Amino acid sequence: TTKMVKICCIGAGYVGGPTMAVIALKCPSIEVAVVDISISRITAWNSDQLPIYEPGLEEVVKQCRGRNLFFSTNVEKHISEADIIFVSVNTPTKTRGLGAGKAADLTYWESAARMIADVSKSNKIVVEKSTVPVKTAEAIEKILSHNSKGISYQILSNPEFLAEGTAIQDLLNPDRVLIGGRETPGGQKAIKALKDVYAHWVPEDRIISTNLWSAELSKLAANAFLAQRISSVNAMSALCEATGADVSEVSHAIGKDSRIGPKFLNASVGFGGSCFQKDILNLIYICECNGLPEVANYWKQVIKVNDYQKNRFVNRVVASMFNTVSGKKIAILGFAFKKDTGDTRETPAIDVCKGLLGDKASLSIYDPQVTGDQIQREISMNKFDWDHPVHLQPMSPTSVKQVNVVWDPYEATRDAHGICILTEWDEFKTLDYQRIFNNMQKPAFVFDGRNIVNIEKLREIGFIVYSIGKPLDPWLKDMPAIA
Ligand code: NAD
Ligand code: UDX
Repeated sequence: TTKMVKICCIGAGYVGGPTMAVIALKCPSIEVAVVDISISRITAWNSDQLPIYEPGLEEVVKQCRGRNLFFSTNVEKHISEADIIFVSVNTPTKTRGLGAGKAADLTYWESAARMIADVSKSNKIVVEKSTVPVKTAEAIEKILSHNSKGISYQILSNPEFLAEGTAIQDLLNPDRVLIGGRETPGGQKAIKALKDVYAHWVPEDRIISTNLWSAELSKLAANAFLAQRISSVNAMSALCEATGADVSEVSHAIGKDSRIGPKFLNASVGFGGSCFQKDILNLIYICECNGLPEVANYWKQVIKVNDYQKNRFVNRVVASMFNTVSGKKIAILGFAFKKDTGDTRETPAIDVCKGLLGDKASLSIYDPQVTGDQIQREISMNKFDWDHPVHLQPMSPTSVKQVNVVWDPYEATRDAHGICILTEWDEFKTLDYQRIFNNMQKPAFVFDGRNIVNIEKLREIGFIVYSIGKPLDPWLKDMPAIA
């Protein structure tokens, strides 16, 4: 019998937690330990209240936890015992120094690598699971080999493509698994070892191997392409509003072209989430460092259009309501960056709320998965500070007075002048809009940033409705938003 393979994952976050839980589920012969420096996160993983909300996650964790899946703060022990070490720590945007506002901050990654070098007593395969700049593997190799005490390390790049809200499904049935490694016999052997893990449940033709740099760059490229699609459709949504075209019809029509495809073409108030903006900024920085300003500028535009879309939404709200929302109650339905997650990192709701607060609105916010503390923290934090755990701790929760967070959509909308729908939660489709209308100030406005409400029905009730990229309500035509 062969020795049981041991895996350790550094970083018990949105990626490390679900990914390792699925590996443990599908590979009973492998022992998986997920470690983190955050004691509260590990405590939560070991409790009934997991630190992240993700459909299906709890069932998987409950099946494996204590069997071949362990969550621990004993980083040293599990690193030293493991054969394969995944590193899935945060790689946020740098907030200061060289490349601030663009480059990836590899502080957490470097400290994980140094920890590996410190405690390892046997040969290791080190897997980059975090999204990192191209050529990071080279830096990691240097840190490890210069501190190696005769131990051999193989570095692999195995970026993660899961999306939040569908993480478990994405992990169980991935479009592909990508593994990059050195083109040496040692590198190929390491690729094979990691392939053997995924082969427990992923068909072999979906496991792709490449060189290290292709794997690292493919992750940044995939996110840039996906975000680009949203900025493209959002750019079209502005033109639709100006011309009377309907963006859903346009998306449907172009999506029928098999070269374009139907997915990921929903116009919105803007994309959010912890990845898209951060990874594109990182890509832009890498292009600039490689003397490619034209390429950098091309990708910059994806972010500019996204910022434009969020501004445009705020301008619509303010312009429609007689050019001022000062002192008016506005209900915000949905704060998470997409449905089926409690994650609010880089959610477009932050910029929309800040924009409305800038015009002195008073906000009443409801999201089924997000607490008041979390919303207050997001709204009072500086751009890019969100993913820096060290910064997070001393943050004093100076709550914004004009923001009230409630646990009921009917309370949020009572006496409000307008409603902004910022997350596409299913429950927002079936609210009793007649009841909501009856309890609102008149004229009552709905600004649908996700195109989920039935416009005709709401207009019949009496609402003035704005939906991204849809033919404008006559009211809105008379109240043009001047950007
Ligand atoms: P996260 O913040 O949820 O988790 C990262 C964890 O790493 C934190 O719990 C932190 O405490 C821990 N950590 C940091 N430094 C550590 C150290 N030295 N030792 C031990 N633990 C340490 O982040 P995430 O969303 O899981 O993202 C992780 C990486 O995966 C990022 O590079 C991200 O770009 C990438 N990624 C994220 C997603 C996603 O949907 N969230 C998808 C694909 C890739
Ligand atoms: C993304 C990538 O999809 C995933 O492959 C990668 O591993 C991590 O980054 P995630 O950010 O979790 O995943 O969610 P995603 O579904 O991509 O949505 C990102 C943002 O785009 C959300 O704010 C979402 O609402 C928005 N979006 C998505 C649109 O506005 N329109 C769409 O058609 C799709």
